[in-house]
Amino acid sequence: MAFELPKLPYSYDALEPYIDARTMEIHYSKHHAGYVNNLNSALEKHPELKNKNVEDLLKDLDNIPNDIRTSVRNNGGGHYNHSIFWTIMGPKVEEKPFGKLAEKIDKTFGSFKNFKEEFSKAAVSRFGSGWAWLVTDDFGNMSIISTPNQDNPIFFGLKPILGLDVWEHAYYLKYQNRRIEYIEAWWNVVNWKEVENRFEKLA
Ligand SMILES: [Fe+2]
Repeated sequence: MAFELPKLPYSYDALEPYIDARTMEIHYSKHHAGYVNNLNSALEKHPELKNKNVEDLLKDLDNIPNDIRTSVRNNGGGHYNHSIFWTIMGPKVEEKPFGKLAEKIDKTFGSFKNFKEEFSKAAVSRFGSGWAWLVTDDFGNMSIISTPNQDNPIFFGLKPILGLDVWEHAYYLKYQNRRIEYIEAWWNVVNWKEVENRFEKLA
């Protein structure tokens, strides 16, 4: 079965004024849709892979046939990353995490404020296009990493709890080159309820 663009869980203007409607529309309907289409085209050449889900493909890149490996990495990664990204944002969100996630963040980073600073630093200093992530490993250790392009922590056996897209396509229309302003604004739309759900499910 071909991969499909998941439904956006809110309208294009739902994250205004922090993320503008035009950016959301292009980001979702052009960029994310493009990754899905390109992934499906790549898999046409190897229909035996079509029954796998995108996580299985990405966790096992070494065994993806050479002629489509880069395309699966970039477009499968793009599809997977954006599918996470839409859900961990939302309108009318909590200001900060709560429950077990809040405890773990405090324990790991000292405070929520420190965590935000470290995460923002990873996001702003990612050279070129990529993502910043809050991840846990198999032992329950939490850390912040960043990845280039559309790479995802699952490539390295890590579990993505929270991810921030710092490709220019995510912010350039509203913020131009001011990535740091986009990052500061983005904290206002993080859907901590969903991040907490991911943490409890994955950690
Ligand atoms: Fe993106």
